[in-house]
Amino acid sequence: MNRSENKPVIYLDHAATSWPKPREVLDAMQRSMLEEAANPGRGSHRMAMNAGRVLMRTRTELGRLFGIANPSDIAYMSNTTAALNQAIKGFLKPGDHAIATMIEHNSVRRPLEYMRREHGVRVDYVPVDESGGIDLDELAGLCRPDTRLIVCNHSSNLLGSILPLADIAEIARGCGAKLLVDAAQSAGVLELDVGKLGIDLLAFPGHKGLLGPQGTGGLYISPDIDLVPLIHGGTGSQSEEADQPSVRPDRYEAGTPNTVGIAGLGAGVRHVLREGASAIGSREWQLTQKIMERLSAIDGLRILGPGLGQPRTGIVSFTLAAAEPSEIAFRLDRDYGIAVRAGFHCTPLAHRAADTTAKGALRCSVGHDTTETEAESLITAVREIARFASR
Ligand code: ALA
Repeated sequence: MNRSENKPVIYLDHAATSWPKPREVLDAMQRSMLEEAANPGRGSHRMAMNAGRVLMRTRTELGRLFGIANPSDIAYMSNTTAALNQAIKGFLKPGDHAIATMIEHNSVRRPLEYMRREHGVRVDYVPVDESGGIDLDELAGLCRPDTRLIVCNHSSNLLGSILPLADIAEIARGCGAKLLVDAAQSAGVLELDVGKLGIDLLAFPGHKGLLGPQGTGGLYISPDIDLVPLIHGGTGSQSEEADQPSVRPDRYEAGTPNTVGIAGLGAGVRHVLREGASAIGSREWQLTQKIMERLSAIDGLRILGPGLGQPRTGIVSFTLAAAEPSEIAFRLDRDYGIAVRAGFHCTPLAHRAADTTAKGALRCSVGHDTTETEAESLITAVREIARFASR
């Protein structure tokens, strides 16, 4: 037990999933399970209607957070991967051209490669520099008359780098393509307004920066885009029709939803709205700067991604000449009670850009409730491990 923080571990794996969740998330889920977890949209009794209200309330709050005028343009998904699959496979058609970057997660790359292999979609990847930046002219140069989609993350899950979405959206508009953004690492910690930034499709997790439980997430679909639904089935609406309903969000939400999870997600989103995403993000940034500054003084330690003072999300990944990432993570966990992620981070092209294809990297990621003391503990622990390893 890390007694000073009253937590069983020093949790620095927020980029994978945030933990612990705010108390109100747990309370909302318990209340939902006890009082209202009937099947929303499938009954006229009070419990079913209350469950429907939970879905609507959370959707409205997500709309507020992301600047989405009509909450019905948000479809609940089980995670960012499901949202990205729905967007990519539901949008691209044989012969289309798509562009992504070399720092995409496999949840973008694999559906794109599947579409290339099975459906004759053509795909290009914009190279990234060592710190995760892209050359916008190079991106614009890849655009062709048949380019229909540009896909990119807002922030890399390995490097923490942040892509200039407004500029990318302008390039997409200029070539008549739509912009799909993977907000896995930015939702809840960076300013993210789909209208202001010009985003057409936004895939986001509920269980990371939005502080909801695992199994939640969503996809914003601009009103002028009609995606082919990936999942067909009951929606509780237009039941006599053989086709999936045209009405949103039902079109993309077949089957019983995760009402309890969405109740928790709603509480998480309210927490973020109260604190302010940019306030949370800027606290996390301060912590990364402290960690980077102190870790970079260790012999043989190389920090990946943007340099000190540059924008980044709460991710600090590094390699150490004297020890493999998996060994450091093991010792952090066993000897110091510090939870991090090591090895490969489902983003092979980013590892190539960062020159970490041999052993991967160690990733520490801070979150909404990470403290200075926890950051200090990490720094001390890595310093001791490095000293021990280089003996
Ligand atoms: N995509 C998540 C991560 O980067 C799971 O760890």
